[in-house]
Amino acid sequence: MNLLVIGSGGREHAIIKKLKENPAVETIYALPGNGGMASDAICVPEIGAKDIEKQVAFATSHGIDYAVVAPDDPLALGAVDALTAAGIPCFGPNKAAAIIEASKAFSKDLMKKYHIPTAAYETFTDMAAALAYLEGQSAPIVVKADGLALGKGVIIAQTIDEAKEAVKSMMEDKVFGESGSKVVIEEFLTGPEVSVLSFTDGETVVPMVSSMDHKRIGNGDTGPNTGGMGTIAPNPYYTEAIAKECMETIFLPTIAAMKAEGRPFKGCLYFGLMLTPKGPKVIEYNCRFGDPETQVVLPLLKSDLLTVMQATTKGTLKDTPVEFDTGSACCVVVASQGYPTKYATGFPITMTEETAQHTYVAGAKLQNGVLVTSGGRVLGVTATAPTLPQAIEEAYRLTQGVSFEGAYCRKDIGQRALQAGKEK
Ligand code: AMP
Ligand code: GLY
Repeated sequence: MNLLVIGSGGREHAIIKKLKENPAVETIYALPGNGGMASDAICVPEIGAKDIEKQVAFATSHGIDYAVVAPDDPLALGAVDALTAAGIPCFGPNKAAAIIEASKAFSKDLMKKYHIPTAAYETFTDMAAALAYLEGQSAPIVVKADGLALGKGVIIAQTIDEAKEAVKSMMEDKVFGESGSKVVIEEFLTGPEVSVLSFTDGETVVPMVSSMDHKRIGNGDTGPNTGGMGTIAPNPYYTEAIAKECMETIFLPTIAAMKAEGRPFKGCLYFGLMLTPKGPKVIEYNCRFGDPETQVVLPLLKSDLLTVMQATTKGTLKDTPVEFDTGSACCVVVASQGYPTKYATGFPITMTEETAQHTYVAGAKLQNGVLVTSGGRVLGVTATAPTLPQAIEEAYRLTQGVSFEGAYCRKDIGQRALQAGKEK
């Protein structure tokens, strides 16, 4: 079989490595992919993740049997609709269902209508109304741009003045472009965060092993937000009792709600949850695999990924076993010094063979045959082990096998999870 994976990050590399475990898979093309994946996939740098017409032409001319659309942008733009129309079976939601991530106003209204627990909120398209509403609120309070904003469209305002500034910057100064013409203002929630990715065919939902992201750049969760500096799985805060509650109050109702709205969701639905003192609530939905959550979740998947993905497309997930290892995984992201603000690129990367086996490359390219850094988050190193402390130790040992000028990683990935384990 010939497969195509759209996207270029560590998440896509993790998907590709897992798909390759199926012996029926002959060739995987990555559009565009990155130089660090070259030993696992044929990368096509000329075709970007948003070049849908070119993707369809490529798929039809290269005998593609199955395509995986991984990032949010092509999903929101209708890549799955276009590939499906051209006769290429595809993993991922269509455009109508991808709106669950593409519009926060849509997802908040969906949760309100179907009584799915989430932070109380109001939506505004008029700046004066938003500012007037804030007068009656107390801080901290959360201001979110409606559309996709590369994960940066969320401001946790510590004062009402700060919230007003955030509204103005989104609605007047358009710092997130058109994403900010509509804003959601919502209640500030507290509690541990859990990411739960799930497979769904629009009827059945199968949660994957839970995980924990580490979004801040600095040790001890300090400094600015990033795309994610590391992950662990499973998340010790997510107990069996909480998982059962989430299934009943969040997962099943969400799948049913999307179906009732005429937008059945197929693919990977990501539930960003906060375990508040009043029970689990949805912070956000993503219409795709998380990055870097995928880099710890998929290594623990025991079942064949391609078979499970195809079941979501065909609507046969109910009859398809999806099993996970009972062990733990830890992924440490190695970034360029200065990320997430200013950083230099183009530094040669060296890696031991052992570390390369455990590495998912995100921001690197081949230059005259040499792998050099090309992005902020350069790669993620993942280890799996029977216990979380072992996985953490092994992941950090493996990171010593990679080096490039200015390589930076957090030293405390997984420490909060270990603490949670002790609290229980
Ligand atoms: P989002 O892009 O919606 O996932 O938001 C990014 C991050 O902001 C989340 O992972 C949370 O840490 C935080 N956040 C978002 N909404 C809230 C909220 N209502 N209360 C507290 N923190 C929030
Ligand atoms: N790690 C969060 C995300 O993928 O959106």
